[in-house]
Amino acid sequence: MVKGKAKTNGKTSDMEAQKPEKQAKKKVSGTQDSKATADPAAEAGAHGASDDKLTKIFGERLRRHHDELRWLYMELYENDSMFAELCDQMYRFYLERNDELKKLDSKREKDKEWYKQNDMLGMMFYIDNFAGNMKGVQSRLDYIGQCNVNYIHLMPFLETPEGRSDGGYAVADFRKVQEKLGSMEDLDRLTAACHKKGINVCMDFVMNHTSEDHEWAKKAREGDGEYMSRYFFFDNGDIPAQYERTVPQVFPTTAPGNFTWLPDIGHYVMTTFYPYQWDLNYRNPRVFNDMMYNFLYLANRGIDIIRIDAVPYIWKELNTPCRNLKQVHTIVRMMRMICEIICPSVLLLGEVVMEPEKVVPYFGTVEKPECHMLYNVTTMATTWHTVATRNVKLLKRQLDIVNGLPKEYVFLNYLRCHDDIGWGLDYGTLQTEGMGERSHKQYLNDYFQGFTEDSTSRGELYNADPVTGDARFCGTTASMCGIEKAGFEQDEAAMETAVRKDLMLHAYMFMQSGIPVLYSGDEIGQVNDYTYKEDPNKAADSRYLHRGAMNWELAKNRTDADTVEGKMFQGLDQLEKIRKTEKVFVTQADTWTIETWDDSLLCIGRYYEGEKLIGLFNFSGEDRTAWIKEADGDYVDLISGNRVQPVDVQVPGYGFLYMKKLTAQG
Ligand code: GLC
Repeated sequence: MVKGKAKTNGKTSDMEAQKPEKQAKKKVSGTQDSKATADPAAEAGAHGASDDKLTKIFGERLRRHHDELRWLYMELYENDSMFAELCDQMYRFYLERNDELKKLDSKREKDKEWYKQNDMLGMMFYIDNFAGNMKGVQSRLDYIGQCNVNYIHLMPFLETPEGRSDGGYAVADFRKVQEKLGSMEDLDRLTAACHKKGINVCMDFVMNHTSEDHEWAKKAREGDGEYMSRYFFFDNGDIPAQYERTVPQVFPTTAPGNFTWLPDIGHYVMTTFYPYQWDLNYRNPRVFNDMMYNFLYLANRGIDIIRIDAVPYIWKELNTPCRNLKQVHTIVRMMRMICEIICPSVLLLGEVVMEPEKVVPYFGTVEKPECHMLYNVTTMATTWHTVATRNVKLLKRQLDIVNGLPKEYVFLNYLRCHDDIGWGLDYGTLQTEGMGERSHKQYLNDYFQGFTEDSTSRGELYNADPVTGDARFCGTTASMCGIEKAGFEQDEAAMETAVRKDLMLHAYMFMQSGIPVLYSGDEIGQVNDYTYKEDPNKAADSRYLHRGAMNWELAKNRTDADTVEGKMFQGLDQLEKIRKTEKVFVTQADTWTIETWDDSLLCIGRYYEGEKLIGLFNFSGEDRTAWIKEADGDYVDLISGNRVQPVDVQVPGYGFLYMKKLTAQG
């Protein structure tokens, strides 16, 4: 590897844009030689901040984490002066954080469970698709409110080169908003406006790589050794070839291989994702420190939830798959502590699109937590498997695994997001039912493309790999439920079924343990958008199929119950309102599955502080009976308002029930 000597005072345009950096003349005395530090609080006092109270708060938080943070940092970097610089900068970012955010920090420090409440409902969207730009989003906050959403995930909005952006996941400047979307000031205003309305804001922190247009990458390309050492450069193909033996491919057809040859400088650079996304080298403490400063800069814009993008990939080691290595956990744990010191109101959401055994370690332990929240990706994929097979067996098993985990672990549940569906299912179990991995993936892809006779779904494949036979799938929830096909064929009965299926899936998703997140457009049943094929910057990436612009004309129909939009919006509204009024939906509730003795019927129970709810979901189009025997009192179905007994319950095709146990007062 071509390695330059890392300067400890490396200055970049990112850092120049950063005021606190420039003010950071004084050292946090003691951190330089922090082995000897007896009292980090006193140490923070050495900054000479006029406000003693601030210094005290920071000092206390630092004291809580200092030893562990230092220990982990030294384990990776063995670099005292860089650690001292980190502590120094943390204090500067703490001082820079505005009073409103500091108030929120102390409020949430006292109420650590704040995000586990039953009113928590997310929605993710691209700013341009949803409302043109940041100001547009601000003007649509009432609509967000109508969707009962109190957390919005703004898809990547930082500076990125047109046509080489991977949907914004190739960041060229971590301190600049894409011009067409607005400015940092607009972001400050948007987060403040959201906070006034009780809405949390989430953004991506794309830390595995930068765009090849990032200042560091440009300098590296000019041959500056210090900047080259922030990436993985090789002057011949030997080591890249060794890596390729053990590192799988993320985009086998759209971006094969994990390295890109740069003829202009005669080097290979590591590019796990697209060739224009250069992997950062976290062995270099300058990379870690500066990325943390970027992180804190963004947190200080009023971001409540930071999604750490592609986190399993951030540490690379020859002869390994370069995924989930133990140093990744060291880094995430350090990020968690840095958050708790400077911005304890901020949540870390890890993006780990892998099987449960790999996802769960990212929660850390109860004593040493890492992420606050993680995506429930296997459940999502298993849900769609269940839609295709109409057999809930695997889903029940998957839910049992999640339900058996400690309640401190908070999952984000979703039906669709901006990415494709990789069919990451429990093939070991499916094998026992005679379903092989390759043939089953083929079946699911055929089904969802609408190639099988019983399918009403529409969508496209993504990264179909001719070598492994693997392919992933793209499409919106509505299209996968049959709304697109029924609309095209103007088949009212089929439309009715499709809408029922779509609502049932949302009702089931709301019952899962964790926090539900809607994908913008799903609330009005928006279908696939095929126009991406006309845009040369998008045509090769079929994920744009489900990244269409919000259709505000159709959204107007949401008040008309005779339209698809109205049925979806009002149906969801009922579910959302139930969820936010019934305490039994808090994430700490006990959640379990109940055997129905019918292949297509899923039953989920929830219990919290004396309240019990039983949900039944029919994944088939036929009326079925759930042979359950929960004869422990009277129940009411919260959807129809009818009294019911949860004993041998009839569930219409694609129907569902939310049966709540009546208490003595009820
Ligand atoms: C994440 C994003 C995906 C992107 C990748 C590379 O997986 O969800 O859209 O392509 O990271 O940044």
